[in-house]
Amino acid sequence: MTSKRSEWNSNITFILAMIGSAVGLGNIWRFPNILYSNGGGSFMIPYIVSLFLLGISFVLIEYAVGFKFKTSLAKILYKINNKLEPVAWIILTIVFLITTYYICVVGWDLIYLVLSFTKAWGPNTDLYFTQNVLHATDSINGIFTIVPNVLVSIIIIWFVVWAIIRTNLNDGIGKASRILLPILCVIIVIFVIYSLTLPGAYIGYSQLFHPDWSALTNLDVWLAAFGQIVFSLSLGMAIALTYASYLPKGSKLVDNALVVAFSNSGFEVFNSIGIFSILGFMSISSGIAFNELVTEGTGLAFVVFPQAFNIMKTGSIIGPLFFLCILFAGITSAMALLEGICYSLSEKFDFSRKKSATIVCIVGALISSIFATASGSFILGIFDAFLNNFALLFAVFMECIIFGWVYDFDELINTLNENSRIKVSNIWKTIIKFILPVCIFCLWIQGIYSTLTQADPVSIIIRGILLAAIIILPIILSKLPAKNENYYD
Ligand code: PHE
Repeated sequence: MTSKRSEWNSNITFILAMIGSAVGLGNIWRFPNILYSNGGGSFMIPYIVSLFLLGISFVLIEYAVGFKFKTSLAKILYKINNKLEPVAWIILTIVFLITTYYICVVGWDLIYLVLSFTKAWGPNTDLYFTQNVLHATDSINGIFTIVPNVLVSIIIIWFVVWAIIRTNLNDGIGKASRILLPILCVIIVIFVIYSLTLPGAYIGYSQLFHPDWSALTNLDVWLAAFGQIVFSLSLGMAIALTYASYLPKGSKLVDNALVVAFSNSGFEVFNSIGIFSILGFMSISSGIAFNELVTEGTGLAFVVFPQAFNIMKTGSIIGPLFFLCILFAGITSAMALLEGICYSLSEKFDFSRKKSATIVCIVGALISSIFATASGSFILGIFDAFLNNFALLFAVFMECIIFGWVYDFDELINTLNENSRIKVSNIWKTIIKFILPVCIFCLWIQGIYSTLTQADPVSIIIRGILLAAIIILPIILSKLPAKNENYYD
C-alpha cells in the first residue's frame, strides 16, 4: 500500500522546513543565558568553532545519509547492518519522548499567549505561573490532580501538529514552514528593534557582548558551546536525515546545510540582543540587579518576561508577539521531531502517513497528559534532564559511530560533493571519525554527572521507567515483522 515517495516541491520549502526544525524554544530562551554565563562576547569564538567544526559536520552526515538512502532511519540502519535496526528505534523513541514534553511547554506558551493580551498574570508572575497556571505541587503527590487549562492547551498543540503532519509533505510540513517561518522572522525583527529603543536596553546588550577572554581557557565553556550547537541545530534526532531524504535529485547538499546552520545561529544571536535589551530595561525600571534577572527556560519566558511586560507601556502588544514567536518556533520544531518517527513507522508497517501520524499523536498526547497534572512540571524537569543531557547525546554518539566507522563514508563524501558548489574535503573525515565522537563523549560524561546529582527516589524511578521504555519499545518494534515486503530488500 506504500504510496509514492514524498519529495519537496522546491529547495526553498526544504530550507524553510529545516530552519523551522532547528529554530525552537532552545534558540529563544536557552542561547542568551548560555552566551551570558560563558564569557559573553568571547563565547562567540567557541560557538563559531563548534558550529563549523562539529555542528555543520554532523548536519552534513545526516544530509548525506538521508539523501543517499532516500528512506527512513530504521530502514537505513537495517540496510547498513540488520543488527542495527534497534538503534534506530532507540533514537526515535528518545526523540518521541522529548516531543511529549516539548509540546507541553509549547502548550504553556499558548496559555501565556492568551493571558498576555490583558497581562492577566498580575504583579506576582512567579506565583501566578506555579500556582494559577500549573497548580504545581513540586512533588509526585499531585499526579492524580488534572490541571484542565494545561490539558486543553496540550491537546490543542497536539491537534495542530497532527493536522500538519498527517497532510502530505508539501501541503503539511511544507506549507506550515512557508507560512510560519516568514512570520516568525518578521516578529523577531520587530521584537528586537523595539527592545533596542527601551530605556536601559544598552545595559542588557552591552553585557551580552562584553568579552571575558579568560573564559576561553575553561573547558566547560567549550563544552557549553558544543552543547548549544547540538541542541540548537537539533542534531542526532534524525530530522535532517529525514528531511534530506525527501530532496529531489541534483540538490546542493553542502550549500543547503550552510544556509540552514547560519540562519539558525543568526536567529539565536539576533534574538538574544532583544532578550537582553528587555532584561536591561527591566533592571533599570525595577532596580533589580541585572544578573539576578538573567535566567533561562520557563523561568525567563513565563516569570521574568511577564514582569517586564507589566512595566512596559506597550506590554500588551510586545507580550503577545513574544509568545507568538515561541509558539511558531515550537510548532515547527515539534512537527519535525515527529516526522522521522512517522516515516519509519509508515515504511516498516506499511501505514499511510495519516495512520502513523494519528497513532503517534494519540500515544504522544496520552503521555503528555501526565504533564497536565499538578505534578506535571516536576516530572517534566526529570524527563528533560534525563532525555536531553543523557539519552539524546547517546543518540548523537551512536549516529556518529555508525556513519563514521561502520558505514564506509567515502561514499558519503561523493554524495555531498556531487552537486554542491561548496565541496567537503578529507579533513571532514577526521572530524567525523575522531574529533566529533570525542567531543560528544565528553559532553555525555558531563551530562551523566549532572543527571546523577538528582538522586531522589522519584527521579530514580522515573528515569528507570524512561530507560525501560527506551530499551523495550525498540526491541519490540525491531522484532515485529515488516508489513511492507520491500523493507528487507
Ligand atoms: N532545536 C530545537 C530547539 O531549539 C528543537 C529541539 C527540541 C532540540 C528538543 C532539542 C530538543 O528547540
